[in-house]
Amino acid sequence: MAQTRNPSRKARQKPSAIPFFQPALFERPIHPRSAISSNDFSVAEVRRILMAADALEREDPLRRAKRLAKRRVALLFYESSTRTRTSFELAAKALGADTTLVSSLSSSIEKGESLKDTGITLKALGAECIILRSPYSGAPYLLARATGLPVLNAGDGMAEHPSQALLDLRTILQHLGVRAAAVSETCLRGVTVTICGDILHSRVARSNELLLPRLGAKVILCGPPQLLPETAAGMMPGIAIERDFDAALEQSQIVMMLRIQAERLAGLQIDLDDYRSRYQASAERIAAHAPTAVILHPGPIIRGMEMVSEVADGPQSAIAQQVHNGVPIRMALVARALSGEKKGGRR
Ligand code: CP
Repeated sequence: MAQTRNPSRKARQKPSAIPFFQPALFERPIHPRSAISSNDFSVAEVRRILMAADALEREDPLRRAKRLAKRRVALLFYESSTRTRTSFELAAKALGADTTLVSSLSSSIEKGESLKDTGITLKALGAECIILRSPYSGAPYLLARATGLPVLNAGDGMAEHPSQALLDLRTILQHLGVRAAAVSETCLRGVTVTICGDILHSRVARSNELLLPRLGAKVILCGPPQLLPETAAGMMPGIAIERDFDAALEQSQIVMMLRIQAERLAGLQIDLDDYRSRYQASAERIAAHAPTAVILHPGPIIRGMEMVSEVADGPQSAIAQQVHNGVPIRMALVARALSGEKKGGRR
């Protein structure tokens, strides 16, 4: 029979008594200027980021390009992306940083290299900030702990997409005529935002749910039970579920449409004809129930499914403006991530 040994107090205190593998010893604290969740930002911090985005957008490009000259920013993308990847890269370059893109195709990720080892490798190559997109919820926390670098979450699984929520917020404020300097706990009081579609799988919905109610907005979640479980409304005060899209539209100044994330359905069966009839932003539905609402979509749009072209390209659509806002918001996030430090380590 195996015996359990009870080491003496002295032995327990000796360094040799510490097991060799202690993961905590190799983990670093999450860098305070990471952006992994919308909850990472206080309202004051959201205001500062939006004000910085405005200032950076206005700044003379030559002067702006000196801000992060010769600083190294790595983009690590394990999932496809058009808007987020391009705008983060353009943002970092506009600030003068050197950027490098590592994607799962054509890198050693294909050979099975772990996220942790990839992060450590990028750091050894001089990366001072890593922008990560991953299919795994929580991956940015692992990368941040493994490297100690500021990590900007460019979308992790079904969890969060905080830079998208910030650019959505900038778009909403522009339409409401609210200045960045006026962002507060009440600046969206009286504003209702409906988010409609595949809420369950949407990191965009999650990051907006965590941000908009803290600024006073009411958020209505709309979709069928398979894509919007009843429990979603319990996340925070200021969030409600409305299954009837027409009823939600009638209450809303802002309507954010989401695609069905086919890549994350995992066997879930959706009757697409029924879905379209209940939840599609059709021209007739928008004209009848939300003729003045601002229409948003994080992209990519599946035209003819959650939204028709007449709405996507129509006068109420602010979708191109959302995409445009990606660069200034991400300039602010990259500049924030690398502020207070210089090449070679923290000040
Ligand atoms: N909104 C968004 O995340 O789009 P991409 O997947 O193209 O980056």
